[in-house]
Amino acid sequence: MSKGVFITFEGIDGCGKSTQLNLLKNEFKAKGLEFIEVREPGGTAVGEKIRTILLDRKNDSMTRMAELLLFEAARAQITEEVILPALERGVHVLCDRFYDSTSAYQGYANKMGRDLTDFLNMKATNETTPDVTFLLDIDPKTAYGRRATRGEEDRIELMGLSYQEKVREGYLELARTEERITVLDADRSPEAIYEDIRKQVWDLIG
Ligand code: ADP
Ligand code: TYD
Repeated sequence: MSKGVFITFEGIDGCGKSTQLNLLKNEFKAKGLEFIEVREPGGTAVGEKIRTILLDRKNDSMTRMAELLLFEAARAQITEEVILPALERGVHVLCDRFYDSTSAYQGYANKMGRDLTDFLNMKATNETTPDVTFLLDIDPKTAYGRRATRGEEDRIELMGLSYQEKVREGYLELARTEERITVLDADRSPEAIYEDIRKQVWDLIG
């Protein structure tokens, strides 16, 4: 049996990842394809607890290293418990964020360094690499405007626009060296963005 295809969505907060993942999910359903949808951090019992710690505004004393290791801990859990078994069974995996988030947020914006985040990303996932990654690139101000109707900001959103700008730079730098990452202009209609995504996905899945 052939392995499932592993597709990840990346970008700054509010860039439109969930919207695109949903559009793709609907098409997978309509085609009767077997898939699972997961999100990071979270997606497992252990991971959801770690997510609560990571996003809790009260945890403002969390060190950068503690934060990095918590993201990797949640990732190790979901990779071994959910993602790898699905791919082995031939089930496709659609993932809202994966290790590129750590490279951009912790490695680049938090200045923990690419060497460290690359090393931990590989260890946490046993080198499970996405087949394709869609990076939804957008100006943080535009993304922030879209989020205005959402609830209270979490610990990471509270870092503000200049932080999101750094994260964006981190993603774009990563995309320059990683061929699997497709950069998409996310300042377009959801339908226009999705058209680019679906072409590439059906090329891959056939
Ligand atoms: P993310 O998952 O990256 O945080 P969402 O998909 O939840 O982002 O989108 C954030 C907000 O922006 C939502 O209110 C969503 O309806 C809206 N949105 C998503 N994509 C677009 C788009 N292409 N144009 C305008 N608004 C969008
Ligand atoms: P979430 O509510 O899932 O954000 P979004 O809807 O924007 O995807 O919150 C996850 C937050 O954690 C988000 O601000 C990005 C951040 N994050 C990291 O800093 N590093 C990581 O490795 C991951 C997976 C997420």
